This record gives sequence, structure tokens and C-alpha cells, in this order.
Amino acid sequence: MSHSETFRKQLSFALEKHLTINDVINDLRTFWVEVSELGCGPRYEEMSIRLDEFQKILSAHFLEEEQLFKKIEDVGDSSACDRVQCLRDEHAEFLERLVDDSERLNCNCESFSNWDWIHDEIDDLINRMAAHEAEENALIHQFLKSEKISKC
Ligand SMILES: [Fe+2]
Ligand SMILES: [Fe+2]
Repeated sequence: MSHSETFRKQLSFALEKHLTINDVINDLRTFWVEVSELGCGPRYEEMSIRLDEFQKILSAHFLEEEQLFKKIEDVGDSSACDRVQCLRDEHAEFLERLVDDSERLNCNCESFSNWDWIHDEIDDLINRMAAHEAEENALIHQFLKSEKISKC
């Protein structure tokens, strides 16, 4: 199998996970709405567990993507390397943010009691992740079109 075929295979494996991630995001949103509309909330502890599970799924996905990043860095120019580093930093930021959110919801402290905040937090995170994915796709597609892929 050529370098290019291996890279494409790893890429499609990583991209398949986006379907799972979208499902988890939709479930998080549905849970928030159901709890709000049915008036059986807030359910901070359950949301904390869900965010923790989401963090673990994302963490595994990011590791797969970062294997592709390494290949781009090995043969890419300094601009590609800078873009890859930004994406890697964002991965770390998303994961840390989810850990913080999950802990915050699970603290059982009276200082935190705002179900609406969770909605805004999830929305903001999803918007930031969408921008991240767009940049990642642009970088990967640019790399796929270049002759550098044959060297990775
Ligand atoms: Fe990513
Ligand atoms: Fe991704």
C-alpha cells in the first residue's frame, strides 16, 4: 500500500468517527431540551456524566487525528506545521474545557446552579469545534492535493 493510500485509509477511519460525535452532540442537546421542557431538572450530575463520556470519545478521536498531523508535519513546510500545532492546541483546549465543565456540574456546590449556562456552553463548544473541523479539513485537503503526500 502506498503512503498516499495509507494516509487516506487512516483519514477515512478518523472521519467516520464524526458520525458518532455528531450523534453524541445531538443526544446532549436533546437531553438538555427534554430536561428543560419536561420540568424534571436540572440534572447536573447526569449531564456531568454525559460530558465526561463525550470527553473520552473526543480524546480517542483526537489521538487518531493527531497521527495524521504527525505525517503532515514530517513532510510539510513551516506554515503547515504552525497550522497543525494550532489544531493540536485546540484539541487540548476542548478536552480540558470538557473536564472542567463536567467537574463543575458534579461539584454539588451551591455556587453553581444554572441549567441555561449548560446550553450556552455546549453551543459555544460545538461552534468552536465546527470552526476547528473546517480548518482541519482545509489543511488535510490541501495536503492530499499536494505532491508531499507521497513522501509521508
Ligand atoms: Fe480535530
Ligand atoms: Fe475531527
